[in-house]
Amino acid sequence: MSMNDDENVTEAPQASPTARLRLVRPAGETARRELPVASAGDAQGTTGEFTRPVRTIAVTSGKGGVGKTFVTVNVGIALARRGLRVLVVDADLGLANVDTMLGLAPGATLRQVLSGERAIGDVLLEGPAGVRIVPATSGFEDMARLGERKLCELLAHFDELAQSFDVALIDTAAGIAPAVLGFTLAADRKLVVATPDPTALTDAYALMKVLATRYGEVDADVVVNLARSAAEGARTFVNLARVTQHFLGFAPRSLGHLPADPEAAASIRRQRAVLEYAPRAPVSLALDALAARLVAPGTAAAHARAHPLPASSALLEARP
Ligand SMILES: Nc1ncnc2c1ncn2[C@@H]1O[C@H](COP(=O)(O)OP(=O)(O)OP(=O)(O)O)[C@@H](O)[C@H]1O
Ligand SMILES: [Mg+2]
Repeated sequence: MSMNDDENVTEAPQASPTARLRLVRPAGETARRELPVASAGDAQGTTGEFTRPVRTIAVTSGKGGVGKTFVTVNVGIALARRGLRVLVVDADLGLANVDTMLGLAPGATLRQVLSGERAIGDVLLEGPAGVRIVPATSGFEDMARLGERKLCELLAHFDELAQSFDVALIDTAAGIAPAVLGFTLAADRKLVVATPDPTALTDAYALMKVLATRYGEVDADVVVNLARSAAEGARTFVNLARVTQHFLGFAPRSLGHLPADPEAAASIRRQRAVLEYAPRAPVSLALDALAARLVAPGTAAAHARAHPLPASSALLEARP
């Protein structure tokens, strides 16, 4: 596929045989920071430090409607409350939901950035707890069908922005289209949202299968959303991990589960973050614990061992 072919995309941008793009961060930059974790779950009472950057985290799932945007937005807010500078990127380019979920009205979007009318910094919105949001568009088919060149352009913009933040969360679209795979592969970490629903489980597996078999990506975190009990959450993860271990040769890490909670849907209907709308609701406490686990020193350290920091500080680094 030609790099200039914007219309007929069949590959993720990273699929080029000679170069693989990824969002990178300033080389060797480390900073110790206390993480005042003061909430529920197994993160309760934890404080710690992490090596900057906590990096870029793509939230993805295969299946639609499993809670990716809900998780992205609320985990972003939970991390911001811990003092991190958080960027949330709406990478569901054609059917954006982040701004809607928070009741925000974007003046300009990524569409204007891509057309050259706006700089990426000009479209940022401010959400709860100071989270900065890059809004995408809704109802523009061209945005849902961006070609490789434009996707790479977007990645470069995101990368530039991400340098000013401690963590960038990327809310991807459903499916395994090139843009989804591209944003997911470009992120340092992949947070796969699954649910106990067999179709969601199958799609989460299918996504990890494509990432592993086609792109060699065998590192993922899984959160089980919409669990009706802790046991169901645990069972769901074990089922998924067994299958990935058996067929793909690796097991994703478990980041726990989020309960099915009517307050989640209620908060979305009111276009408010559930962390603000119902801070003591079970799902809010679980989201806070999930955020803590996501940046827990152990997780970061283990990940850093698996993915050493690059030596260069190039925006888009080519690697074999
Ligand atoms: N823990 C939860 N408890 C109850 N309902 C939930 C929970 N998480 C998500 N939902 C419901 O699921 C719906 C879909 O969530 P969300 O829009 O975040 O999914 P998505 O994966 O981003 O969807 P899409 O693939 O269309 O972008 C929400 O409107 C909400 O009603
Ligand atoms: Mg979504």
